[in-house]
Amino acid sequence: MPSTDIELRLLIEAIYLKYSYDFRDYSGASIKRRVNHALHQFECKTISALQDKVLHDPTAFMQLLQLLTIPVSEMFRDPDHFQAIRREVVPLLKTYPSIKVWIAGCSTGEEVYSMAILLREEGLLERTIIYATDINPRSLEKAKQGIFSLENIRAYTKNYQQAGGQRSFADYYTAAYDYAIFDKSLCDNVTFADHSLATDSVFSETQLISCRNVLIYFNKKLQDRAFGLFHESLCHRGFLVLGSKETLDFSPYGKLFEPLVKQERIYRKL
Ligand SMILES: C[S@@+](CC[C@H](N)C(=O)[O-])C[C@H]1O[C@@H](n2cnc3c(N)ncnc32)[C@H](O)[C@@H]1O
Repeated sequence: MPSTDIELRLLIEAIYLKYSYDFRDYSGASIKRRVNHALHQFECKTISALQDKVLHDPTAFMQLLQLLTIPVSEMFRDPDHFQAIRREVVPLLKTYPSIKVWIAGCSTGEEVYSMAILLREEGLLERTIIYATDINPRSLEKAKQGIFSLENIRAYTKNYQQAGGQRSFADYYTAAYDYAIFDKSLCDNVTFADHSLATDSVFSETQLISCRNVLIYFNKKLQDRAFGLFHESLCHRGFLVLGSKETLDFSPYGKLFEPLVKQERIYRKL
């Protein structure tokens, strides 16, 4: 085995033992890329040197966590996906007296605000509780604040319109300097919480789970663990939505769901 692979394995194990973040079943290629990037950022010559640094310096670990978790998101990402939720899922959600939505791997919150806006426009937000979870505490803090760079708002507005948005997107935020501060009431029923799909268990029964662009970073074993959690959490005939590059096709859990809009990765529990 090449030395760098040994060092990588030791780094991942050290992070798990010291900080309880479990990256052991993440996709090897992706974690390798991230760690190589970290070597440059931390100016470390070897992965062992990086390990030494993060083991003895929690602040350095927090910085590494930002690189390992890829906190990249956008509002109404893949507008057709949100349009399909509005068209195919919302009419069925309307039949429930109360709704629980779990957004797993919510990152800095863009997906949460998108979902909250969609549910408000459909008259469902008041009877919905949203659990927005992630393993990155900095991302969760940013998500709670609901303040996003104004620079991105033009692209988000376009996404919102393409996703079937019914109002002016500007109705949902106040611009101040270089930031858009989102309407706090969108998050009245949102609980932001630390939860790992790698180590934690199910915490509530839900009607809709959105886990987008998270499973691509996991190996098959960890993807199946996550599908198991989603299956256990979803109510009878609940909805699971994934990212555009994610699928249930190769999982044993595939048999326990049916595609509702296959192209948009929207599934329903059988
Ligand atoms: C690329 S972002 C996706 C954000 C959002 N879902 C979207 O589609 O725009 C991936 C997120 O998954 C989170 N994540 C990584 N491993 C996780 C785990 N084991 N459990 C929960 N979230 C995790 C990361 O912290 C990161 O915020």
